[in-house]
Amino acid sequence: SDLIAYAAALPKAELHLHIEGSLEPELLFKLGKRNNIDLPFKSVDEIRAAYEFSNLQDFLDIYYQGMSVLRTEEDFFDLTMAYLNRARADNVRHAEIFFDPQGHTERGVPFDVAISGISTALDMAKVQFGMTTKLIMCFLRHLPEEDAFETLKQAENWLDRIEAVGLDSSEVGHPPSKFERVFKAARERDLKLVAHAGEEGPPEYVYEALDLLRIDRLDHGNRSLEDTVLVERLVKEEMTLTVCPLSNLKLCVVNDIKNHPLKRMLELGLRATVNSDDPSYFGGYMNDNFKAVIEALDLTREDIKTLAKNSFAGSFLSDGEKRAQI
Ligand code: HPA
Ligand code: ZN
Repeated sequence: SDLIAYAAALPKAELHLHIEGSLEPELLFKLGKRNNIDLPFKSVDEIRAAYEFSNLQDFLDIYYQGMSVLRTEEDFFDLTMAYLNRARADNVRHAEIFFDPQGHTERGVPFDVAISGISTALDMAKVQFGMTTKLIMCFLRHLPEEDAFETLKQAENWLDRIEAVGLDSSEVGHPPSKFERVFKAARERDLKLVAHAGEEGPPEYVYEALDLLRIDRLDHGNRSLEDTVLVERLVKEEMTLTVCPLSNLKLCVVNDIKNHPLKRMLELGLRATVNSDDPSYFGGYMNDNFKAVIEALDLTREDIKTLAKNSFAGSFLSDGEKRAQI
């Protein structure tokens, strides 16, 4: 329809994208070959068929297995360049990209290898197509806080390339409070702070992310809607929520895209944004996510415009850079 084309053409920012989750089966195979890694799959179709998840952990098991083909700086460069090209085709003008250093250092791939390959691609996207980016280093919450401190130490020489720290992986049983000290250390290094909360975890985890981690932005946040006092607070604080519609569908955070809370979030006055999370695993990039919610939730032209505006407003661009985009 007209509205889908309208959304596709709008300049947008992507604020919730795990670079390792943009690894397409074709590239996964290519890198597996290049690095002589034995994969449990014989074809691209076989890989795609394995992407059926009933919850977050189901997905994470496959996601960590997939990233095992990433070994060299060139692998990280190729991965990042493929995402940036694909995002650009969806008129994503600015991207704030997560990476999971512990998913690599755990396998013996040095922190420096991952971040230098990613950074080279980010620099190239700026030069080649004027796309701006920020890098967000996530801590894996299923691991001890001590490991997150070690990761922060490894990042010390790269702090000029890292905008923020985040918190991802298995949510339930690993509340934000577990990472209060390492987030304080990140804050003392002038890093911005974000955290996944309220994807599968209860509203209490969102309160912890706000009060203990002191986040600047909330990733997912869906379950905040169960608590009206919390919703009022998020509205009042103009907290940005990085919502991921196709991810929510594939991970059974919603049972049907028609029941996705995005429209309700906008009606409540929340600063919601649309994002692709792990596009290779969840069936679509930025514009696929817009298409899904436009069709399922009867979004208006005004809603779509608000979502695009929110994406820049909620970014970590400077006020001047935001004005230039909106
Ligand atoms: N949630 C938690 N951890 C993740 C996700 C997600 O959606 N994607 C990659 N790691
Ligand atoms: Zn995510």
